[in-house]
Amino acid sequence: MFGFGKKEQKPEANVADTLEWASKRFQEAFWASEEALGYMLDRGFSEETVKDWEIGYSPRSSAYLATDLDKEVGVEAGLLIETDRGAVIDRFRDRIMIPIRAADGTLAGFGGRAVDDNAAGPKYLNSSESEHFQKSSILFGAHRLGVVTDLEPAFVVEGYMDVIKLSQYGIPNVVASMGTAMTEENLRNLNEAGRYVLFAMDGDNPGRAAMRKIRNGILSDPALDFEAAFVLFPEGSDPDDFITEKGREQFEAFMRENVMALTDAFVEDFAARGLTKSAEGRFFCYGEIEDILSRLPSPHPIETNLSKELSEKLKIPEALWVAALEDKRRERNGLTRPVAPESAVPSGSQPPEGQAIPSLRDNAPQPQQRGLRFHEWVLVAQYRSRTISKRIAEDSRWDYISQFLPLEANICKGLADQVNEGDSIREAFRKSENHDRGMSVCWENVISFDPDGMDIDDIYETAMEKLEKKAKHTEMQKDLEAVGDASLDGWKETSITPALSRRPGVAG
Ligand code: UTP
Ligand code: MN
Repeated sequence: MFGFGKKEQKPEANVADTLEWASKRFQEAFWASEEALGYMLDRGFSEETVKDWEIGYSPRSSAYLATDLDKEVGVEAGLLIETDRGAVIDRFRDRIMIPIRAADGTLAGFGGRAVDDNAAGPKYLNSSESEHFQKSSILFGAHRLGVVTDLEPAFVVEGYMDVIKLSQYGIPNVVASMGTAMTEENLRNLNEAGRYVLFAMDGDNPGRAAMRKIRNGILSDPALDFEAAFVLFPEGSDPDDFITEKGREQFEAFMRENVMALTDAFVEDFAARGLTKSAEGRFFCYGEIEDILSRLPSPHPIETNLSKELSEKLKIPEALWVAALEDKRRERNGLTRPVAPESAVPSGSQPPEGQAIPSLRDNAPQPQQRGLRFHEWVLVAQYRSRTISKRIAEDSRWDYISQFLPLEANICKGLADQVNEGDSIREAFRKSENHDRGMSVCWENVISFDPDGMDIDDIYETAMEKLEKKAKHTEMQKDLEAVGDASLDGWKETSITPALSRRPGVAG
């Protein structure tokens, strides 16, 4: 089939021809190397499959291509690299070479699989990113997508080898993203792949994360008009491993038994994260979906179905769910909150911004950074900056918060009022402490907390977001009780430290 009797002619000086020429040279080397062929056969690939996918091999030599290739074009094509010392050598050495073609069939580059799993360097070395090889736009296998009928799904898997192996077992229309997670562009390109798209992921943590990203990507893009389904493979086994070990029949049976529609995929994932058992957990799940959907300027086409199915599965009354989503969307689409103006305030007995307060801190109990409650974060901000007390007085969000969290609102606003009247923060605190012993624990938390480079306004803003959310949940809980479901416990407070540390510019 391949006339490899004589070496391929030197390529034309353009990238496309150079890549095709290199692919031929890699195939020559493959069939000349017992090791390369042995590797593929050991993994259960047939000789037909190897030929069909034009699998090649890059020899150990660093000059296999370099001796014949125009240096400039070779580098541009991503086949040669320039070393620190200025020598130009082969980029791919001792690797199984998988040609990667764009949807129109033109050769874009290569994925090189290390033959020796213990060798230095990455398991897969791909062509370097360039004008000709843009990972985020390529779906491996896309050039072989056939005409897909309404009943046949297209498959999306995680690895090159999965695509190739499934084709060997007669499963057509399989593509893989290029190692990085599926991009928005990848998802858009799947629009042409048919009515149903089945995403087969490894059942490990990266696989689950990939599934989450795809799922959220689908919700964020109303222009996607395929129906998505998901299968998670057993941990430690990808489609390639599974079908090689168990054969096509069992592979298909597994897919049939484990396929999840989009909503099931949400619920499965929430359950795996332990979120479906409690009412709070279920509301958290709801929040995650709401957050994505409310960012769309108008309702997503699948929104009605989604709320119907998910409200049933998460046991949240649909009407409540829909109303909350509408609220949030309205809020995002225009209603922005007034931001309190910053005003210069004399520092008084206030410690300078961000500075340690030695005498108090030395006697303080162990810092309880992780255990701070949301309103205590507001107190921390007040303690560190007098402008926060001013801000609290002018921040209309407290009206809403105080309806549902009167205690927290009283503490924060009471303190702010005292400070705004001229008390030092410590005086203000002592006054409230006289009324409430609980305040002394609170105070200890506040003074012993070390913001360590965090931005004070950030602390305040983040705490306010959390308090609003908590108020919202309390409101929902009240509504729920009104519709006869009293199963909700209180919304448990959690630390906001992780959220803060994830914000850019805030040390964590
Ligand atoms: P996997 O490690 O799951 O690939 O990475 P695989 O196909 O199962 O590999 P085998 O079976 O061990 O040969 C999935 C994909 O991630 C990209 C590749 O596109 C790979 O197919 N990848 C992975 C890289 O680009 N570089 C790597 O080092 C590893
Ligand atoms: Mn694999």
